[in-house]
Order: sequence, then C-alpha cells, then structure tokens
Amino acid sequence: MEFEPKIMAFCCQFCAYSAADLAGSMRLQYPPNVRIVRLLCTGKVDPLHLLRAFQEGWDGVFVAGCLEGECHFLAGNLHAKQWINYTKKLLKELGIEPERLEMFNMSAAMGTKFADTVKEMTERIKKLGPSPLRRDVKDSH
Ligand code: FES
Repeated sequence: MEFEPKIMAFCCQFCAYSAADLAGSMRLQYPPNVRIVRLLCTGKVDPLHLLRAFQEGWDGVFVAGCLEGECHFLAGNLHAKQWINYTKKLLKELGIEPERLEMFNMSAAMGTKFADTVKEMTERIKKLGPSPLRRDVKDSH
C-alpha cells in the first residue's frame, strides 16, 4: 500500500484558513490527509506546538500565514517564520528531517495556492517517507 503522509496545517484565520475554504468551494483537488488547525494569527504558533505535532505522529507540518506585510497583528507571521527556522534546527538535532516543517504565506483569495501547498508538502513527505515518530494519528484534533 502506498504511503499516504498525514499532514498538520496550522492556518491563520485571515488568510490560509479562508484560502482552504475557497479551495473547497472551487472544488480544487488536493490530498485529503491534511488536518487544518485554525489560528488567530501564525504568531500564535511556537516550537512547542510544532514539536508536539511531530510527537503525536504527524509526518509533516506546515504553517500558513498572511503575506508578509499583511499580518493583522503586524509581525505575527514574521515571528512565526523565525520560530519555524528555529524549530527546524531542533528537529535536525532530534534526528527528524527539517524539511518536514515549512512556512507558507498566502492571501484569503489564494485557494489554488492552498491546494498547491498541500500537494507540494504531500509530495515532499512522500519522498522522505513516514516520520520516525509516526503512529496512527487520531482524527479528533
Ligand atoms: Fe494572518 Fe498574522 S493575521 S498571519
């Protein structure tokens, strides 16, 4: 059976979360194994959230925030970017490929970009294979 990566997506409510909705209403196809977690702003994520997602067994994690310069909390998405770069280093030290984590920026109007992001992450994680911490993740997030 082909490996289907399970991906956790932390999405800002002002942009990526709406873009995901739009992708749905545009009936754009993207891999279904993505769990979307809605955030007030990507500035709310910290390394603990991200590491916990890996600890729970998700194969890949991405954070999607507003375009740079368009965060409703001014620099939340820039702080998120810094945390993600920091967390990538932690992952590497833990023996987990840092490519399993990524940050993307998009607007609420970018339904296609959201669908492409899920596809891109899914392809990337397929190449890497299952997370070393993988176990069956529950759908109850
Ligand atoms: Fe969207 Fe900050 S409000 S990333």
